[in-house]
Amino acid sequence: MTAIYEVRGNVAVITLSNPPVNGLGYETRKAAAAGIESAENDPAVKAIVITGAGKAFSGGADIKEFNSPKALAEPNLGSLILVVENSTKPVVAAIHTVCMGGGLELALGCHYRVVQKGAKIALPEVKLGLLPGAGGTQRLPRALGVEPAMNMIVSGEPVPAEMLAMVPGQKLFDQVVDDNVLDAAIAFAKDVADKRPLPKVRDLKARVANADAFFGFAKNMVTGMSKNFPAPLKCLETVQNSVTMKFDDGIKAEREGFVALMQTPESKALRHAFFAERAASKIADVPEDTPQRTIAKVAVIGAGTMGGGISMNFLNAGISVTILETKQEALDRGIATIKKNYEAQVAKGKLKADKYEQRMALLTPTLDYAAIGDADLVIEAVFEELGVKETVFKKLDEVMKPGAILASNTSTLDVNKIASFTKRPQDVVGLHFFSPANVMRLLEVVRGEKTAKDVLATVMQLAKKIKKTAVVSGVCDGFIGNRMIEQYSRQAGFLLDEGCTPAQVDKAAEKFGFAMGPFRMGDLAGNDIGWAIRKRRAAERPNMNYSKTADLLCELGRFGQKTQAGWYDYKPGKRDAIPSKVVTDMLEKYRADKGIVPRQVSDEEIVQRLVFALVNEAAHLLEEGIAQRASDVDMVYLTGYGFPVFRGGPMCYADTVGLFNVVQAMKRFAKNPMDDAKFWEPAPLIKRLVAEGKSFT
Ligand code: NAI
Repeated sequence: MTAIYEVRGNVAVITLSNPPVNGLGYETRKAAAAGIESAENDPAVKAIVITGAGKAFSGGADIKEFNSPKALAEPNLGSLILVVENSTKPVVAAIHTVCMGGGLELALGCHYRVVQKGAKIALPEVKLGLLPGAGGTQRLPRALGVEPAMNMIVSGEPVPAEMLAMVPGQKLFDQVVDDNVLDAAIAFAKDVADKRPLPKVRDLKARVANADAFFGFAKNMVTGMSKNFPAPLKCLETVQNSVTMKFDDGIKAEREGFVALMQTPESKALRHAFFAERAASKIADVPEDTPQRTIAKVAVIGAGTMGGGISMNFLNAGISVTILETKQEALDRGIATIKKNYEAQVAKGKLKADKYEQRMALLTPTLDYAAIGDADLVIEAVFEELGVKETVFKKLDEVMKPGAILASNTSTLDVNKIASFTKRPQDVVGLHFFSPANVMRLLEVVRGEKTAKDVLATVMQLAKKIKKTAVVSGVCDGFIGNRMIEQYSRQAGFLLDEGCTPAQVDKAAEKFGFAMGPFRMGDLAGNDIGWAIRKRRAAERPNMNYSKTADLLCELGRFGQKTQAGWYDYKPGKRDAIPSKVVTDMLEKYRADKGIVPRQVSDEEIVQRLVFALVNEAAHLLEEGIAQRASDVDMVYLTGYGFPVFRGGPMCYADTVGLFNVVQAMKRFAKNPMDDAKFWEPAPLIKRLVAEGKSFT
């Protein structure tokens, strides 16, 4: 966690050294500033080069210091940049591989920049709901040009150095080299050692033709694209200052903008999600250095909806897949669907034709268990019936090589029970993918009672390889996500009983930010699925009360989009949800039969009942140890259930509202005679947190 200082001939080299990406943490900043001072004090030194050790120039702020006072301890990043910029000897940045955020801001404070091709250049702060706060918004437009700088700052996306070097008139890079950037920068530093005055980016002018029209247009674009997020627009305004204000005033406004954005709930939510994702990959009792099993070959059992999508994940990552079915017809259908999905990607230009062929070449269809025995991981995705799972797992136990991981994609069945069908329960784990499995980011890793630690470590790592966000869940009905959604759906049903229309509930949920309200979602997924689950559970849990409206809907054959009729009507081939007279009549009759007098329900109540139902159930999950941490629950909802990212997930949202207020709302809902008073008893965890003045996250 430092910066290394050495003198090579008459050039001082300061190498940022804070693995993995040379984050500009306190020790590193202090050592870099000390390096500049040593160079200034050494008469033999004529010029200075700053570079980064290993695989980055610098990735920017040190995330280990986020939210800690150390992030601002002097020298803070702004002060370090001033030390560099005010050096009386020329400072050259030798940039390679990664130069992002504070790393780029530091480079912009140098007098010259030499860059190696392929380096990824970015100011990604907007992705955390922030703006670059160490001069980036003022220096990048001056060095690169206003329009490209604005695009980078508002989008946060990385751009390869060689593309930026082609921007006409740019002064961001003084030299672009193929390799050996440090040697090139040292040679460059020697060349410019005696040149004065020293060029400073702050002295350049940020210019753009027809500035008012340009920024007016840009503002319209950004406003349209960034609803719910204040940061992109603030980034834009701040870039505009580089044109209209003196440098120092622009820096002052940038600082104010940064501080204001830090306080927004949107930035808090995005930063929460950033750390939640990292936390989710860790399992308390499975150390990071747990040995892992090698996964080079995968087998998938069942080529239906899920089996096909699951296979594609591995093919995309270059891992071979053997897919097994019981009947040739089902196998052919499954393979055809995979092909069709890839072909659609090729047609849209999202996948190159040769890549498509490479992926298909990794896929082997089979009807024979003998063909999968040597796979390192097998994922079962057959019908959701315990008897079928039993047959499959007994067979897998017979044929799979020792040490193979046996996974089930079951969404509701008991993974411990499934493990007990084998003589190797330690090798059995749940891998619960979400539909469409090749698209959805969430993967619930279901840890059975006997699942071995190295199995968990292996699948968590594998999840990263196939670009999934893995969250560990204990065994229970529905695991984390579906057990919570059941409570959300129950509330949606009660809201209909009480007088809402499906469209009113959906609109309120969508205004809150959900990708889709509960009823549009039901129509998309198929209302018959929930119907089947409720029928099964009616026997298991006779005391659980539900609105009967969803059953009545299914009795009318209204399963959703697939039958062109569900909670809404649909025109053939169209997905637009049209409010349905049939459904309105059905609801009115239902209420009349039960003697319910419908009431007006506010949007606020709708949203609170849906979301706090998730929160209360999640609190139980945490207490039972099914979920490891509140932020894991948020990851499940952000990546698998369309929960609005700018709200950070249900638990983060509950914290924003304040748990005391959440409890008050629950007490109100418990008094509602139509609702389930017992459910609204706040979970003991919530009560405890309120008593201690604490929050979930
Ligand atoms: P599906 O009905 O589309 O596919 C099941 C496939 O398994 C069929 O192609 C069938 O021929 C095959 N199959 C049945 N018995 C078999 C056996 N003994 N050996 C080999 N193949 C056999 O079902 P879907 O939707 O793909 O679900 C599969 C599993 O994934 C279930 O456990 C389900 O609960 C779970 N799941 C489903 C999700 C969904 O949204 N559809 C989401 C997450 C999990």
